[in-house]
Amino acid sequence: MNAPLLNTPVLEPSIFELSHVGAQGVSLPAVGVEENPLESLIPPDFLREAAPRLPEISQMDAVRHFLRLSQLNHCIDKEFYPLGSCTMKYNPKVCDYYGMLDGLTRLHPMTPAHLSQGALKIIYTLQQYLADITGFDAVSLQQAAGAQGELVGIMMIKAHFAHMGDTQRTEVIVPDSAHGTNPASAAMCGYKIVEIKSGANGLVDLARLKAALSHKTAAVMLTNPSTVGLFEKDILEITRLVHEVGAFMYYDGANLNAVMGQAKPAQMGFDVMHINTHKTFATPHGGGGPGCGPVAVTKTLAPYLPAPIADFDGQQYFLNEDRPLSVGKVKAFYGNFEMMARALTYIQAYGAEGLSQVSQDAVLNANYLKACLQEDYQVAFDQVCKHEFILTNAKQKVHDSHLNTMAIVKRLMDYGYHPPTVYFPLIVHEAMMFEPTETESKATLDHFVAAMKAIAEECRTQPELVLNAPHTTPVSKVDEVAAARNPNLNYFGQSAS
Ligand SMILES: Cc1ncc(COP(=O)(O)O)c(C=O)c1O
Repeated sequence: MNAPLLNTPVLEPSIFELSHVGAQGVSLPAVGVEENPLESLIPPDFLREAAPRLPEISQMDAVRHFLRLSQLNHCIDKEFYPLGSCTMKYNPKVCDYYGMLDGLTRLHPMTPAHLSQGALKIIYTLQQYLADITGFDAVSLQQAAGAQGELVGIMMIKAHFAHMGDTQRTEVIVPDSAHGTNPASAAMCGYKIVEIKSGANGLVDLARLKAALSHKTAAVMLTNPSTVGLFEKDILEITRLVHEVGAFMYYDGANLNAVMGQAKPAQMGFDVMHINTHKTFATPHGGGGPGCGPVAVTKTLAPYLPAPIADFDGQQYFLNEDRPLSVGKVKAFYGNFEMMARALTYIQAYGAEGLSQVSQDAVLNANYLKACLQEDYQVAFDQVCKHEFILTNAKQKVHDSHLNTMAIVKRLMDYGYHPPTVYFPLIVHEAMMFEPTETESKATLDHFVAAMKAIAEECRTQPELVLNAPHTTPVSKVDEVAAARNPNLNYFGQSAS
């Protein structure tokens, strides 16, 4: 298998450069109004002195321009996207269809309950399903993303201790394998972060956990399966130890796709969790924006959930605002409703058996991919994994010490694939984390394996090819730190005519 080597990157011209004086996208009928009525309505001081510089372009050229731009980006609808921890699985189009029904998208959020029973039923039913899937007693769907769910979870823990008059708990424990949002959320709530080093097997080290736990501990935040793709085999002992000192167990539900239908976080001993609906239940991520990060809790924490919660009084669905201990409102209205309609569609389309099959297939695909790649790449934790696994560059760097993880994954782009997650979790040196998800077929995985093997061969025989990759993308190797620190998001070029 050979990746094309074009080496002729072409930068897409901006729409201003495509502009031609006089070109038009649409022809509007003459309105028959001589004077611009706005001019008589808007005070002169507010009127523009010159017309804005807008591109002039035909409809077809505009459509082609934006289609070309959209194709420069990678997406799961285009090709395999094995981004570990991010669960980039295919979202069935039926979820978009129902999420975008006119009756839902055009419903004003302030529509009174008696006129929005259908929408309220959607919210209430999703709360019930998520409670069932996770084993918890109550759910809030208001949060806009997983990270906001984390923040709310820790806010609730803090509110509970404040309500109980327990002021001594100032610390939250997180393993060093945790996603960065875990310590960030706890720190935003004013907690001191106590980091515990993971064991050599990537899992929680019980001795270190015991040493860190004290009457000062408010919570321990864990991801299970962990960010190295392994199930915490001592989870029951961990949750027992944490509860013994009166602290709460927080479950980062980012990896729910691996255990859904097999095990319930509440039964593992967790007290509160967030769900990333974009990872498990077919909603867009939303870039921290219009997403959905439900929070599920036990009875003890339920009074602190954000208000309102969708409720049912036996006859009517309604938004229950009567929650005196609530941490309050965390998102306008009731969060991003269309995400809820999508997630509910996904759950109902699959049903209980289907959801259980999803997690089994996600784990099967990850183990198949790992088995296919372990001859050519070093596996970080050599055991049966859950939904994701980590490889490193150990076998490649012997050919050329510059062959780091970044170089290897950039070469994957020439083969048409999105690279895996790199350099996360931090506890694995030169980590490449692959999460194939359940939606990929064996044929897709086999093609991907062929590409990875071809790259391993290139590392052996022509490392410079890998070191200078990508070769076929519009922009070759970029300075990612500069791009993140000094993003240039404005167009300053000249129009073509
Ligand atoms: C393990 C883990 N926790 C938390 C988050 C944060 O979720 P979100 O991106 O929805 O805010 C992520 C996101 O990728 C994650 O992978």
